[in-house]
Amino acid sequence: MSDATDALAIGEPLMVLDGIHRRFMMGDEEVRALRGVSFTITKGEYVCIIGPSGSGKSTMMYLLGCLDTPSEGTYELAGYEVSELGDEELAALRNKYIGFVFQAFNLIPRTTTVDNVALPLRYAGVGIGERRRRAAQALERVGLGHRLDHTPDRLSGGERQRVAIARAIVTKPELLLCDEPTGNLDSRVGAEITRLFEELNHDMGVTVVIVTHDPNLAKRARRNIKLVDGQMVYDGPPQEGK
Ligand SMILES: Nc1ncnc2c1ncn2[C@@H]1O[C@H](COP(=O)(O)OP(=O)(O)OP(=O)(O)O)[C@@H](O)[C@H]1O
Ligand SMILES: [Mg+2]
Repeated sequence: MSDATDALAIGEPLMVLDGIHRRFMMGDEEVRALRGVSFTITKGEYVCIIGPSGSGKSTMMYLLGCLDTPSEGTYELAGYEVSELGDEELAALRNKYIGFVFQAFNLIPRTTTVDNVALPLRYAGVGIGERRRRAAQALERVGLGHRLDHTPDRLSGGERQRVAIARAIVTKPELLLCDEPTGNLDSRVGAEITRLFEELNHDMGVTVVIVTHDPNLAKRARRNIKLVDGQMVYDGPPQEGK
C-alpha cells in the first residue's frame, strides 16, 4: 500500500460509490441486497446510514469496510478501487484506513484494556513499548486513562464500548465505521458514546460512518443516508421523526 494518499484534506472524497449492486444466491433464488446505490462521502463527514430491517445496511457496511466486494459497480476508498484488490490488499487497506466499532464490543477477555487497544498496532509491526504508550493515549482520549489495567469483565458496557473505540482510533484511521454502536447500551450511556463520536469527528477530523436503528444517534449526525429495499431513498440532513 503506497503512502501517496496518506494525508487526505477535509472535504476531499474518501469513499466514492457508483452504481453499487450486491446480489446473493440463495439456492436458485437471487437476493438483491443492494440495487444501484451511488454516493460520495468526503473526509471529515459524520454520516448515519439508516433504514428498516432487511434494507441492506449491514451489506453496505461490509462493502464500505472492504470486508466484501460489490457484484456490480465501483467503490473507491481513498483512491483505491476496491473490486480490483485481492484479499491481502483489502486487509492492508482496512488496517491502514479503517477503525471498526461493533455493537458487541468484541474485546479479548482476560487481557487488559491497554493490551486490547494496542493489538491493531501489533499487526502494524509497532514495538511493545510504543504500542502501550499509544494505547494509553487513545484510552485517555476516550476518558479511560484510569482503567489501563482493568480487564473487560470488570468494566461497564459504556466503558467497554469506549475501549473498543480507543482500539479503533489507535492507528489514527481516516474512517471510523460503526455498526449499531449504541445497540447494547441504555439511552444515557448511548448518549455519552454519541457525544464521543461527535468529539472525535470534530477534534481529529476522522470521518465517521455509523449504521444504526437509533434515532437519537441518527439525528445528531450531519447527514443521513436512508436505504429501503436496497436502494437509497434519502440523502440529506436528518429529518425529524424519520
Ligand atoms: N449472505 C447473504 N446471503 C443471502 N442473503 C443475504 C445475505 N446477506 C444479506 N442477505 C439479504 O439481503 C437483504 C439485506 O440484508 P442486510 O443484512 O444488509 O439488512 P439490514 O438492513 O442490515 O437489516 P437489519 O436492520 O435487520 O440488520 C436481506 O433480505 C437479507 O436477507
Ligand atoms: Mg444489519
